[in-house]
Amino acid sequence: MSKNILLISSSPRQQGNSDILCDAFMQGAEKAGHATEKIRLAEKHINYCTGCCSCIRGGGSCVQKDDMAELHAKILAADVLVLASPVYFRTYNGQMKTFIDRICPIYSMIRNKDVYFIISAAGGRLPVNSTVESFRVFTGCLSDIREKGVIAVTGVWDEGGVRGSKTVQQAYVAGANA
Ligand SMILES: Cc1cc2nc3c(=O)[nH]c(=O)nc-3n(C[C@H](O)[C@H](O)[C@H](O)COP(=O)(O)O)c2cc1C
Repeated sequence: MSKNILLISSSPRQQGNSDILCDAFMQGAEKAGHATEKIRLAEKHINYCTGCCSCIRGGGSCVQKDDMAELHAKILAADVLVLASPVYFRTYNGQMKTFIDRICPIYSMIRNKDVYFIISAAGGRLPVNSTVESFRVFTGCLSDIREKGVIAVTGVWDEGGVRGSKTVQQAYVAGANA
């Protein structure tokens, strides 16, 4: 069955390692007949959550008029969510956190989805593990979420350093099996 796969890529880099892994995942998924869309947060205008809580009192919509509304619709429509981030100080980056906070208006409506995490780190397993845990804290706030996989590259600092590594192939295979 063809699935609707939404990738959220938070690296600000043009040739981000995590973004390259997103592309490989997408190629595999498309080969398998799935519909994919990648959102690069760096190309979107997403303000911080102001904590006004009108979305909670007012039933699911945010008072801010920026690009997040279109992302809400895409998240709810997706069968599979892929959250991709570089490690910044042992967790996902601020762009991803801002995106996650702005999910507040719809978080209780997000249910029955497969989720993958894509992570790139200059260090080793330790920063990846803490980032995975941070992602899990978020997905643990949602309903009926099935974590299907973690695709992580370690030891890459430079932009594009992941190219040619086995993790790119792993991302492709994960996408093909999504
Ligand atoms: C502000 C900042 C903080 C970082 N913190 C960590 C860290 O705690 N652990 C680590 O392994 N790498 C850290 N890195 C390195 C990035 O995770 C690494 O360069 C990664 O490959 C970037 O992914 P991207 O190309 O997808 O943006 C940091 C990089 C920046 C810019």
